[in-house]
Amino acid sequence: MKSVTPIVFVFHWRVWFTAAAGIHTQSQAVGSQNSHELSELLSNNASIVLPSDPTWDNIVARGSYPRIAPGYQLAVEVATEADVATIVTYANDHDIDFLAVAGGHGETTTLNRLQDGIQINLRKLNSVTVNDDDTVTVGGGTLQQELVNQLYEHGKRAVTGLCECVSVIGPLLGSGHSFLQSQHGFSVDNIVSANIVLANGTTTSASATTNPDLFWALRGAGQNFGIVTSFTLKTYPITSTYSTYTFTFSRSQIDAVFSLVNEIDSPPSARDPKFFLNAWLIRPSADDDPIFSYSLAYEGSTYDLAIRAAPFLALNPITTALVTNITYKEIHQALGFGAEIFACGKNMNQAISGVGLPRWNIPALHSTYELFCSLTADSRFANSAVLLENYGIVGVLGVDAKSTAVPPEERERPILTSAVIHYEGDEQRTRREAAEWLGRLTDALYEGVEEDRHAYVNYANGNESVEEMYGREEWRVEKLRGLKAEWDPRNKFRFYNPIV
Ligand SMILES: *[C@@H]1O[C@H](CO)[C@@H](O)[C@H](O)[C@H]1NC(C)=O
Ligand SMILES: *[C@@H]1O[C@H](CO)[C@@H](O)[C@H](O)[C@H]1NC(C)=O
Ligand SMILES: *[C@@H]1O[C@H](CO)[C@@H](O)[C@H](O)[C@H]1NC(C)=O
Ligand SMILES: *[C@@H]1O[C@H](CO)[C@@H](O)[C@H](O)[C@H]1NC(C)=O
Repeated sequence: MKSVTPIVFVFHWRVWFTAAAGIHTQSQAVGSQNSHELSELLSNNASIVLPSDPTWDNIVARGSYPRIAPGYQLAVEVATEADVATIVTYANDHDIDFLAVAGGHGETTTLNRLQDGIQINLRKLNSVTVNDDDTVTVGGGTLQQELVNQLYEHGKRAVTGLCECVSVIGPLLGSGHSFLQSQHGFSVDNIVSANIVLANGTTTSASATTNPDLFWALRGAGQNFGIVTSFTLKTYPITSTYSTYTFTFSRSQIDAVFSLVNEIDSPPSARDPKFFLNAWLIRPSADDDPIFSYSLAYEGSTYDLAIRAAPFLALNPITTALVTNITYKEIHQALGFGAEIFACGKNMNQAISGVGLPRWNIPALHSTYELFCSLTADSRFANSAVLLENYGIVGVLGVDAKSTAVPPEERERPILTSAVIHYEGDEQRTRREAAEWLGRLTDALYEGVEEDRHAYVNYANGNESVEEMYGREEWRVEKLRGLKAEWDPRNKFRFYNPIV
Protein backbone atom coordinates (compact mmCIF):
# COMPACT_ATOMS: atom_id res chain seq x y z
CA MET A 1 0.00 0.00 0.00
CA LYS A 2 1.31 3.41 -0.89
CA SER A 3 2.39 5.54 2.06
CA VAL A 4 1.01 9.01 2.59
CA THR A 5 3.66 11.37 3.90
CA PRO A 6 3.00 11.42 7.65
CA ILE A 7 2.67 15.15 8.20
CA VAL A 8 -1.08 15.45 8.41
CA PHE A 9 -1.11 16.91 11.88
CA VAL A 10 1.53 19.48 11.26
CA PHE A 11 -0.54 21.33 8.69
CA HIS A 12 -3.15 22.01 11.31
CA TRP A 13 -0.93 24.39 13.19
CA ARG A 14 -1.15 27.76 11.57
CA VAL A 15 2.27 28.82 12.63
CA TRP A 16 5.35 26.67 12.23
CA PHE A 17 8.05 26.44 14.75
CA THR A 18 9.68 29.82 14.59
CA ALA A 19 13.08 30.45 16.03
CA ALA A 20 13.42 32.43 19.19
CA ALA A 21 12.69 36.10 18.88
CA GLY A 22 12.76 38.82 21.44
CA ILE A 23 14.26 36.87 24.31
CA HIS A 24 14.52 39.04 27.34
CA THR A 25 17.84 39.36 29.03
CA GLN A 26 17.89 37.66 32.41
CA SER A 27 18.61 39.31 35.73
CA GLN A 28 22.03 40.82 35.52
CA ALA A 29 23.08 39.48 38.93
CA VAL A 30 26.80 39.16 38.73
CA GLY A 31 27.94 35.59 38.96
CA SER A 32 31.47 36.27 37.79
CA GLN A 33 33.13 35.69 41.17
CA ASN A 34 31.32 32.36 41.49
CA SER A 35 32.11 31.61 37.89
CA HIS A 36 35.81 32.12 38.50
CA GLU A 37 35.91 29.89 41.58
CA LEU A 38 33.75 27.19 40.02
CA SER A 39 35.78 26.98 36.84
CA GLU A 40 38.77 25.85 38.92
CA LEU A 41 36.75 22.93 40.25
CA LEU A 42 35.02 21.64 37.11
CA SER A 43 36.26 19.21 34.48
CA ASN A 44 38.08 20.63 31.45
CA ASN A 45 35.18 20.32 29.07
CA ALA A 46 32.59 21.94 31.32
CA SER A 47 31.69 25.48 30.34
CA ILE A 48 30.27 28.31 32.36
CA VAL A 49 27.88 30.72 30.70
CA LEU A 50 27.19 34.17 32.16
CA PRO A 51 24.34 36.59 31.33
CA SER A 52 26.80 38.77 29.43
CA ASP A 53 27.85 35.89 27.15
CA PRO A 54 26.49 35.69 23.60
CA THR A 55 25.22 32.13 24.22
CA TRP A 56 23.20 33.14 27.31
CA ASP A 57 19.86 33.53 25.51
CA ASN A 58 20.31 30.09 24.07
CA ILE A 59 21.08 28.47 27.41
CA VAL A 60 18.07 29.97 29.18
CA ALA A 61 15.70 29.28 26.27
CA ARG A 62 12.89 26.95 27.30
CA GLY A 63 9.86 25.34 25.70
CA SER A 64 7.58 27.78 27.51
CA TYR A 65 9.55 31.01 27.87
CA PRO A 66 9.27 33.74 29.15
CA ARG A 67 6.17 32.46 30.95
CA ILE A 68 8.48 30.00 32.68
CA ALA A 69 11.75 31.78 33.44
CA PRO A 70 13.75 30.48 36.40
CA GLY A 71 16.26 33.16 37.54
CA TYR A 72 19.93 32.29 37.11
CA GLN A 73 23.15 34.13 37.89
CA LEU A 74 25.08 31.64 35.79
CA ALA A 75 24.72 28.34 33.97
CA VAL A 76 27.15 25.45 33.76
CA GLU A 77 27.17 23.03 30.87
CA VAL A 78 28.51 20.05 32.75
CA ALA A 79 30.75 17.57 30.91
CA THR A 80 30.98 14.81 33.50
CA GLU A 81 28.67 13.32 36.10
CA ALA A 82 31.19 14.47 38.74
CA ASP A 83 30.70 18.10 37.62
CA VAL A 84 27.12 17.91 38.88
CA ALA A 85 28.24 16.94 42.39
CA THR A 86 30.88 19.67 42.31
CA ILE A 87 28.31 22.34 41.51
CA VAL A 88 25.82 21.15 44.12
CA THR A 89 28.53 21.16 46.81
CA TYR A 90 29.76 24.58 45.74
CA ALA A 91 26.23 26.00 45.63
CA ASN A 92 25.45 24.67 49.10
CA ASP A 93 28.68 26.14 50.51
CA HIS A 94 27.70 29.52 49.06
CA ASP A 95 24.00 29.28 49.85
CA ILE A 96 22.96 29.43 46.20
CA ASP A 97 19.94 27.56 44.81
CA PHE A 98 20.27 25.40 41.70
CA LEU A 99 18.15 23.70 39.05
CA ALA A 100 19.11 20.87 36.72
CA VAL A 101 17.90 21.27 33.13
CA ALA A 102 17.92 18.63 30.41
CA GLY A 103 15.41 19.35 27.61
CA GLY A 104 13.96 22.51 29.15
CA HIS A 105 10.33 21.62 28.55
CA GLY A 106 9.04 21.57 32.12
CA GLU A 107 6.30 24.18 32.25
CA THR A 108 5.04 24.30 35.80
CA THR A 109 5.00 27.78 37.32
CA THR A 110 6.82 26.50 40.44
CA LEU A 111 10.02 26.69 38.37
CA ASN A 112 9.71 30.48 38.53
CA ARG A 113 10.46 30.37 42.27
CA LEU A 114 14.16 29.91 41.54
CA GLN A 115 15.94 33.25 41.83
CA ASP A 116 19.60 34.05 41.25
CA GLY A 117 20.42 30.36 41.05
CA ILE A 118 22.80 28.17 39.09
CA GLN A 119 21.49 26.29 36.09
CA ILE A 120 23.06 22.84 35.87
CA ASN A 121 22.75 22.16 32.18
CA LEU A 122 22.91 18.41 31.52
CA ARG A 123 22.77 18.46 27.71
CA LYS A 124 26.41 17.40 27.29
CA LEU A 125 25.66 14.25 29.32
CA ASN A 126 24.16 12.92 26.15
CA SER A 127 25.10 9.28 25.83
CA VAL A 128 23.48 5.98 24.95
CA THR A 129 25.25 2.71 25.77
CA VAL A 130 23.47 -0.46 24.71
CA ASN A 131 24.22 -3.29 27.16
CA ASP A 132 24.02 -7.02 26.35
CA ASP A 133 21.43 -7.80 29.04
CA ASP A 134 18.50 -6.06 27.28
CA THR A 135 19.18 -2.75 28.98
CA VAL A 136 20.55 0.60 27.89
CA THR A 137 22.48 3.13 29.95
CA VAL A 138 21.44 6.68 29.18
CA GLY A 139 23.08 9.98 30.09
CA GLY A 140 20.99 12.50 32.04
CA GLY A 141 21.05 15.01 29.16
CA THR A 142 19.86 12.69 26.39
CA LEU A 143 16.76 13.65 24.41
CA GLN A 144 14.09 11.11 23.51
CA GLN A 145 14.75 11.31 19.79
CA GLU A 146 18.45 10.59 20.40
CA LEU A 147 17.66 7.47 22.43
CA VAL A 148 15.02 6.25 19.98
CA ASN A 149 17.35 6.66 17.00
CA GLN A 150 20.36 5.02 18.61
CA LEU A 151 18.42 2.07 19.97
CA TYR A 152 16.73 1.65 16.60
CA GLU A 153 20.11 0.90 15.04
CA HIS A 154 20.21 -2.13 17.36
CA GLY A 155 16.64 -3.18 16.57
CA LYS A 156 15.56 -2.15 20.06
CA ARG A 157 13.47 0.40 21.86
CA ALA A 158 12.82 1.60 25.39
CA VAL A 159 9.69 3.03 26.95
CA THR A 160 9.97 6.80 26.35
CA GLY A 161 7.44 9.59 26.00
CA LEU A 162 5.64 11.07 23.02
CA CYS A 163 7.44 14.29 22.11
CA GLU A 164 10.80 13.70 20.46
CA CYS A 165 12.25 17.00 21.66
CA VAL A 166 12.03 16.45 25.42
CA SER A 167 14.62 14.72 27.54
CA VAL A 168 14.32 11.07 28.48
CA ILE A 169 14.83 11.67 32.20
CA GLY A 170 12.49 14.67 32.65
CA PRO A 171 9.13 12.99 32.02
CA LEU A 172 10.41 9.65 33.32
CA LEU A 173 10.90 10.96 36.86
CA GLY A 174 7.20 11.88 36.98
CA SER A 175 6.15 8.43 35.62
CA GLY A 176 6.37 8.95 31.84
CA HIS A 177 3.36 8.19 29.64
CA SER A 178 4.28 6.39 26.43
CA PHE A 179 2.94 4.72 23.28
CA LEU A 180 4.38 1.56 24.83
CA GLN A 181 2.89 1.87 28.31
CA SER A 182 0.09 -0.56 27.66
CA GLN A 183 2.67 -3.22 26.81
CA HIS A 184 5.49 -2.42 29.24
CA GLY A 185 4.30 0.08 31.86
CA PHE A 186 5.34 3.70 32.32
CA SER A 187 8.89 4.80 31.46
CA VAL A 188 9.66 4.79 35.16
CA ASP A 189 8.47 1.20 35.52
CA ASN A 190 11.38 0.30 33.25
CA ILE A 191 14.21 1.93 35.14
CA VAL A 192 16.68 -0.56 36.58
CA SER A 193 19.06 1.79 38.36
CA ALA A 194 20.11 5.42 38.49
CA ASN A 195 23.19 7.43 39.43
CA ILE A 196 22.08 10.38 41.50
CA VAL A 197 23.58 13.50 43.00
CA LEU A 198 21.81 14.16 46.28
CA ALA A 199 20.90 17.52 47.78
CA ASN A 200 24.11 17.60 49.83
CA GLY A 201 26.32 16.91 46.80
CA THR A 202 26.92 13.25 47.61
CA THR A 203 26.84 10.92 44.62
CA THR A 204 24.99 7.66 45.08
CA SER A 205 22.97 5.12 43.18
CA ALA A 206 19.51 3.68 43.57
CA SER A 207 17.92 0.43 42.45
CA ALA A 208 15.66 -2.26 43.87
CA THR A 209 18.57 -3.41 46.04
CA THR A 210 20.62 -0.22 46.63
CA ASN A 211 18.82 2.55 48.53
CA PRO A 212 15.42 1.00 47.75
CA ASP A 213 13.53 3.79 49.55
CA LEU A 214 15.21 6.44 47.44
CA PHE A 215 14.50 4.31 44.37
CA TRP A 216 10.83 4.19 45.37
CA ALA A 217 10.61 7.99 45.65
CA LEU A 218 12.58 8.58 42.50
CA ARG A 219 9.99 6.64 40.53
CA GLY A 220 7.17 9.21 40.38
CA ALA A 221 8.49 12.08 42.49
CA GLY A 222 12.08 12.03 41.31
CA GLN A 223 12.50 15.76 40.71
CA ASN A 224 12.14 16.27 44.47
CA PHE A 225 14.95 13.90 45.40
CA GLY A 226 18.05 14.38 43.31
CA ILE A 227 19.71 14.98 39.98
CA VAL A 228 19.91 11.83 37.90
CA THR A 229 23.15 11.97 35.93
CA SER A 230 22.72 8.59 34.20
CA PHE A 231 20.35 5.65 34.42
CA THR A 232 19.73 2.20 33.04
CA LEU A 233 16.48 1.24 31.33
CA LYS A 234 15.06 -2.03 30.07
CA THR A 235 14.94 -2.46 26.29
CA TYR A 236 12.67 -4.53 24.06
CA PRO A 237 13.13 -5.82 20.53
CA ILE A 238 11.29 -4.04 17.73
CA THR A 239 9.14 -6.65 16.03
CA SER A 240 6.77 -4.74 13.78
CA THR A 241 5.99 -1.52 11.96
CA TYR A 242 2.94 0.65 12.59
CA SER A 243 -0.03 1.85 10.60
CA THR A 244 -1.96 4.98 11.46
CA TYR A 245 -5.26 6.55 10.57
CA THR A 246 -5.75 10.25 11.17
CA PHE A 247 -9.29 11.59 10.95
CA THR A 248 -10.79 14.98 11.39
CA PHE A 249 -14.15 15.31 13.08
CA SER A 250 -16.40 18.30 13.62
CA ARG A 251 -18.39 19.59 16.58
CA SER A 252 -21.48 17.67 15.45
CA GLN A 253 -19.54 14.39 15.76
CA ILE A 254 -18.44 14.83 19.39
CA ASP A 255 -21.11 12.51 20.82
CA ALA A 256 -20.52 9.73 18.34
CA VAL A 257 -16.72 9.83 18.42
CA PHE A 258 -16.20 10.02 22.16
CA SER A 259 -18.97 7.52 22.93
CA LEU A 260 -17.14 5.15 20.61
CA VAL A 261 -13.87 5.80 22.45
CA ASN A 262 -15.58 5.18 25.79
CA GLU A 263 -16.91 1.92 24.41
CA ILE A 264 -13.46 0.82 23.22
CA ASP A 265 -12.14 1.55 26.71
CA SER A 266 -14.86 -0.15 28.74
CA PRO A 267 -13.12 -1.37 30.65
CA PRO A 268 -9.78 0.29 29.74
CA SER A 269 -7.97 -2.95 30.50
CA ALA A 270 -9.86 -4.61 27.62
CA ARG A 271 -8.13 -2.56 24.95
CA ASP A 272 -5.50 -4.32 22.84
CA PRO A 273 -2.14 -3.02 24.20
CA LYS A 274 -0.86 -2.40 20.67
CA PHE A 275 -3.74 -0.08 19.80
CA PHE A 276 -3.10 3.60 20.49
CA LEU A 277 -5.60 6.49 20.36
CA ASN A 278 -4.89 10.19 20.55
CA ALA A 279 -6.60 13.42 19.59
CA TRP A 280 -6.14 17.17 19.50
CA LEU A 281 -8.77 19.88 19.36
CA ILE A 282 -7.35 22.62 17.16
CA ARG A 283 -8.49 25.53 15.02
CA PRO A 284 -6.93 25.32 11.56
CA SER A 285 -7.69 28.97 10.74
CA ALA A 286 -9.75 31.87 12.03
CA ASP A 287 -12.33 31.21 9.30
CA ASP A 288 -12.85 27.58 10.27
CA ASP A 289 -14.53 26.06 13.28
CA PRO A 290 -12.27 24.07 15.59
CA ILE A 291 -11.89 20.40 14.65
CA PHE A 292 -10.79 17.22 16.32
CA SER A 293 -7.72 15.64 14.77
CA TYR A 294 -8.11 12.03 15.84
CA SER A 295 -5.32 9.48 15.37
CA LEU A 296 -5.34 5.72 15.68
CA ALA A 297 -2.15 3.70 15.55
CA TYR A 298 -1.64 -0.02 15.55
CA GLU A 299 1.64 -1.79 15.98
CA GLY A 300 1.10 -4.61 13.51
CA SER A 301 -0.49 -5.15 10.15
CA THR A 302 -2.64 -2.65 8.31
CA TYR A 303 -5.42 -5.21 8.53
CA ASP A 304 -5.20 -5.13 12.34
CA LEU A 305 -5.63 -1.38 12.22
CA ALA A 306 -8.37 -1.49 9.59
CA ILE A 307 -10.68 -3.67 11.69
CA ARG A 308 -10.26 -1.30 14.65
CA ALA A 309 -10.66 1.80 12.47
CA ALA A 310 -13.88 0.62 10.81
CA PRO A 311 -16.23 2.06 13.49
CA PHE A 312 -14.46 5.45 13.18
CA LEU A 313 -14.73 5.38 9.38
CA ALA A 314 -18.43 4.59 9.78
CA LEU A 315 -18.84 7.97 11.51
CA ASN A 316 -17.94 9.76 8.25
CA PRO A 317 -14.88 11.74 9.24
CA ILE A 318 -14.35 15.02 7.36
CA THR A 319 -10.90 13.83 6.28
CA THR A 320 -9.17 10.47 6.48
CA ALA A 321 -5.46 9.70 6.04
CA LEU A 322 -4.00 6.21 6.22
CA VAL A 323 -0.25 5.78 6.58
CA THR A 324 1.32 2.34 6.54
CA ASN A 325 4.73 0.79 7.14
CA ILE A 326 5.83 3.35 9.72
CA THR A 327 8.95 2.31 11.58
CA TYR A 328 9.31 2.77 15.32
CA LYS A 329 11.84 5.50 14.59
CA GLU A 330 9.17 7.43 12.66
CA ILE A 331 6.08 6.79 14.75
CA HIS A 332 6.40 9.81 17.04
CA GLN A 333 6.59 12.11 14.05
CA ALA A 334 3.79 10.26 12.25
CA LEU A 335 1.46 10.87 15.19
CA GLY A 336 2.27 14.57 15.45
CA PHE A 337 4.93 14.49 18.15
CA GLY A 338 8.04 15.02 16.01
CA ALA A 339 10.87 17.33 16.99
CA GLU A 340 9.73 19.91 14.40
CA ILE A 341 6.18 20.42 15.71
CA PHE A 342 4.97 23.71 17.05
CA ALA A 343 4.86 22.46 20.64
CA CYS A 344 8.52 21.45 20.41
CA GLY A 345 9.61 24.98 19.61
CA LYS A 346 11.53 27.06 22.11
CA ASN A 347 10.55 30.41 23.55
CA MET A 348 6.83 30.24 22.95
CA ASN A 349 4.63 30.52 25.96
CA GLN A 350 2.66 27.37 26.53
CA ALA A 351 0.44 26.84 29.56
CA ILE A 352 -1.04 23.46 30.45
CA SER A 353 -2.96 21.92 33.31
CA GLY A 354 -3.25 18.14 33.20
CA VAL A 355 -6.60 16.49 33.82
CA GLY A 356 -6.70 12.73 34.43
CA LEU A 357 -10.09 11.17 33.66
CA PRO A 358 -11.59 7.70 33.99
CA ARG A 359 -13.81 8.19 30.90
CA TRP A 360 -15.04 10.96 28.60
CA ASN A 361 -18.03 12.93 29.75
CA ILE A 362 -19.76 14.09 26.56
CA PRO A 363 -21.35 17.30 28.00
CA ALA A 364 -17.91 18.27 29.33
CA LEU A 365 -16.49 17.96 25.81
CA HIS A 366 -19.24 20.22 24.47
CA SER A 367 -18.47 22.84 27.12
CA THR A 368 -14.78 22.55 26.35
CA TYR A 369 -15.47 22.94 22.63
CA GLU A 370 -17.55 26.11 23.14
CA LEU A 371 -14.87 27.65 25.38
CA PHE A 372 -12.18 26.71 22.88
CA CYS A 373 -14.14 28.49 20.13
CA SER A 374 -14.10 31.69 22.18
CA LEU A 375 -10.48 31.29 23.20
CA THR A 376 -9.21 30.80 19.65
CA ALA A 377 -11.40 33.59 18.26
CA ASP A 378 -8.95 35.85 20.09
CA SER A 379 -5.97 36.08 17.73
CA ARG A 380 -3.51 36.12 20.65
CA PHE A 381 -4.55 32.56 21.52
CA ALA A 382 -5.40 31.23 18.04
CA ASN A 383 -2.69 28.56 18.13
CA SER A 384 -3.92 27.00 21.34
CA ALA A 385 -5.10 23.39 21.43
CA VAL A 386 -6.69 20.84 23.71
CA LEU A 387 -4.76 17.63 24.09
CA LEU A 388 -7.01 14.56 24.32
CA GLU A 389 -4.73 11.59 25.03
CA ASN A 390 -6.25 8.12 25.53
CA TYR A 391 -3.67 5.67 26.79
CA GLY A 392 -3.84 1.92 27.08
CA ILE A 393 -3.29 0.95 30.69
CA VAL A 394 -2.76 -2.82 30.67
CA GLY A 395 1.01 -2.55 31.20
CA VAL A 396 0.81 0.13 33.89
CA LEU A 397 -1.77 -1.87 35.85
CA GLY A 398 0.64 -4.79 35.73
CA VAL A 399 2.90 -2.96 38.20
CA ASP A 400 1.89 -2.96 41.89
CA ALA A 401 0.92 0.66 42.61
CA LYS A 402 2.46 0.45 46.09
CA SER A 403 5.87 -0.34 44.65
CA THR A 404 6.58 3.18 43.28
CA ALA A 405 5.75 6.82 44.01
CA VAL A 406 3.48 6.93 40.93
CA PRO A 407 -0.01 7.30 42.41
CA PRO A 408 -2.71 4.77 41.52
CA GLU A 409 -4.77 7.58 39.96
CA GLU A 410 -2.08 7.86 37.28
CA ARG A 411 -2.20 4.14 36.57
CA GLU A 412 -5.97 3.74 36.58
CA ARG A 413 -7.13 6.68 34.44
CA PRO A 414 -6.74 6.09 30.73
CA ILE A 415 -7.41 9.69 29.73
CA LEU A 416 -4.91 12.49 30.02
CA THR A 417 -6.29 15.74 28.72
CA SER A 418 -5.21 19.36 28.99
CA ALA A 419 -5.84 22.72 27.47
CA VAL A 420 -2.63 23.94 25.84
CA ILE A 421 -2.74 27.73 25.75
CA HIS A 422 -0.21 29.32 23.39
CA TYR A 423 0.58 33.00 23.19
CA GLU A 424 3.50 35.15 22.25
CA GLY A 425 5.37 37.85 24.10
CA ASP A 426 5.38 38.85 27.74
CA GLU A 427 2.44 41.15 28.15
CA GLN A 428 1.10 40.85 31.71
CA ARG A 429 -2.54 41.17 30.73
CA THR A 430 -2.20 38.37 28.15
CA ARG A 431 -0.40 36.21 30.67
CA ARG A 432 -3.18 36.74 33.21
CA GLU A 433 -5.91 36.04 30.68
CA ALA A 434 -4.10 32.89 29.52
CA ALA A 435 -4.13 31.65 33.13
CA GLU A 436 -7.84 32.44 33.41
CA TRP A 437 -8.62 30.55 30.19
CA LEU A 438 -6.58 27.63 31.43
CA GLY A 439 -8.62 27.54 34.63
CA ARG A 440 -11.93 27.71 32.76
CA LEU A 441 -10.99 24.96 30.31
CA THR A 442 -9.66 22.78 33.12
CA ASP A 443 -12.93 23.17 35.01
CA ALA A 444 -14.85 22.33 31.83
CA LEU A 445 -12.84 19.14 31.25
CA TYR A 446 -13.66 18.02 34.81
CA GLU A 447 -17.36 18.79 34.41
CA GLY A 448 -19.56 15.91 35.61
CA VAL A 449 -16.59 13.89 36.90
CA GLU A 450 -17.30 12.46 40.34
CA GLU A 451 -13.78 11.31 41.13
CA ASP A 452 -11.34 13.66 42.88
CA ARG A 453 -9.16 15.73 40.59
CA HIS A 454 -5.86 14.22 39.55
CA ALA A 455 -3.12 16.03 37.60
CA TYR A 456 -0.24 14.17 35.92
CA VAL A 457 2.71 15.77 37.68
CA ASN A 458 4.47 16.50 34.38
CA TYR A 459 1.42 18.40 33.11
CA ALA A 460 0.76 20.22 36.38
CA ASN A 461 0.22 23.93 36.19
CA GLY A 462 1.94 24.64 39.50
CA ASN A 463 -0.90 25.42 41.88
CA GLU A 464 -2.24 21.88 42.43
CA SER A 465 -2.19 20.36 45.89
CA VAL A 466 0.43 17.72 46.71
CA GLU A 467 -2.39 15.14 46.82
CA GLU A 468 -3.70 16.11 43.40
CA MET A 469 -0.30 15.40 41.86
CA TYR A 470 1.22 12.69 44.05
CA GLY A 471 -1.89 10.79 45.14
CA ARG A 472 -4.58 10.89 47.77
CA GLU A 473 -3.63 7.86 49.84
CA GLU A 474 -2.51 9.22 53.21
CA TRP A 475 0.32 6.74 53.70
CA ARG A 476 1.74 7.70 50.30
CA VAL A 477 2.08 11.42 50.95
CA GLU A 478 3.37 10.72 54.47
CA LYS A 479 5.98 8.36 53.09
CA LEU A 480 7.08 10.93 50.50
CA ARG A 481 7.40 13.63 53.16
CA GLY A 482 9.35 11.26 55.42
CA LEU A 483 11.77 10.34 52.64
CA LYS A 484 12.13 13.98 51.76
CA ALA A 485 13.19 14.77 55.34
CA GLU A 486 15.76 12.01 55.10
CA TRP A 487 17.24 12.65 51.65
CA ASP A 488 16.76 16.39 51.23
CA PRO A 489 16.28 17.86 54.71
CA ARG A 490 17.03 21.42 53.55
CA ASN A 491 14.56 21.12 50.68
CA LYS A 492 17.02 22.05 47.95
CA PHE A 493 14.90 20.28 45.33
CA ARG A 494 11.76 22.37 45.64
CA PHE A 495 11.37 24.03 42.25
CA TYR A 496 9.50 21.31 40.36
CA ASN A 497 6.03 20.64 41.81
CA PRO A 498 7.39 20.35 45.35
CA ILE A 499 6.21 17.86 47.96
CA VAL A 500 7.11 20.25 50.79
C1 LIG B 1 36.63 17.01 25.82
O1 LIG B 1 36.08 17.33 24.55
C2 LIG B 1 36.89 16.92 23.48
C3 LIG B 1 36.29 17.49 22.21
O2 LIG B 1 34.92 17.21 22.13
C4 LIG B 1 37.00 15.40 23.47
O3 LIG B 1 37.81 14.97 22.41
C5 LIG B 1 37.61 14.95 24.79
O4 LIG B 1 37.60 13.54 24.86
C6 LIG B 1 36.83 15.51 25.96
N1 LIG B 1 37.53 15.23 27.18
C7 LIG B 1 36.97 14.57 28.17
C8 LIG B 1 37.82 14.37 29.40
O5 LIG B 1 35.82 14.18 28.14
C1 LIG C 1 8.68 -0.36 4.63
O1 LIG C 1 9.68 0.56 5.02
C2 LIG C 1 10.98 0.04 4.97
C3 LIG C 1 11.93 1.04 5.63
O2 LIG C 1 11.57 2.36 5.36
C4 LIG C 1 11.33 -0.26 3.52
O3 LIG C 1 12.63 -0.79 3.43
C5 LIG C 1 10.33 -1.27 2.99
O4 LIG C 1 10.54 -1.48 1.61
C6 LIG C 1 8.89 -0.78 3.18
N1 LIG C 1 7.98 -1.86 2.85
C7 LIG C 1 6.87 -1.64 2.15
C8 LIG C 1 6.01 -2.85 1.93
O5 LIG C 1 6.57 -0.55 1.72
C1 LIG D 1 -4.88 27.30 39.64
O1 LIG D 1 -4.74 27.96 38.43
C2 LIG D 1 -5.87 27.89 37.59
C3 LIG D 1 -5.45 28.45 36.25
O2 LIG D 1 -4.87 29.69 36.36
C4 LIG D 1 -7.01 28.63 38.26
O3 LIG D 1 -8.17 28.63 37.49
C5 LIG D 1 -7.30 27.91 39.56
O4 LIG D 1 -8.32 28.58 40.26
C6 LIG D 1 -6.04 27.86 40.41
N1 LIG D 1 -6.30 27.01 41.56
C7 LIG D 1 -5.92 27.35 42.78
C8 LIG D 1 -6.21 26.32 43.83
O5 LIG D 1 -5.35 28.40 43.02
C1 LIG E 1 24.33 13.29 52.26
O1 LIG E 1 23.01 12.83 52.43
C2 LIG E 1 22.88 11.42 52.52
C3 LIG E 1 21.39 11.12 52.57
O2 LIG E 1 20.78 11.83 53.59
C4 LIG E 1 23.66 10.90 53.70
O3 LIG E 1 23.56 9.50 53.74
C5 LIG E 1 25.10 11.31 53.56
O4 LIG E 1 25.82 10.92 54.73
C6 LIG E 1 25.21 12.81 53.41
N1 LIG E 1 26.60 13.15 53.14
C7 LIG E 1 27.24 14.08 53.80
C8 LIG E 1 28.66 14.32 53.39
O5 LIG E 1 26.70 14.71 54.69
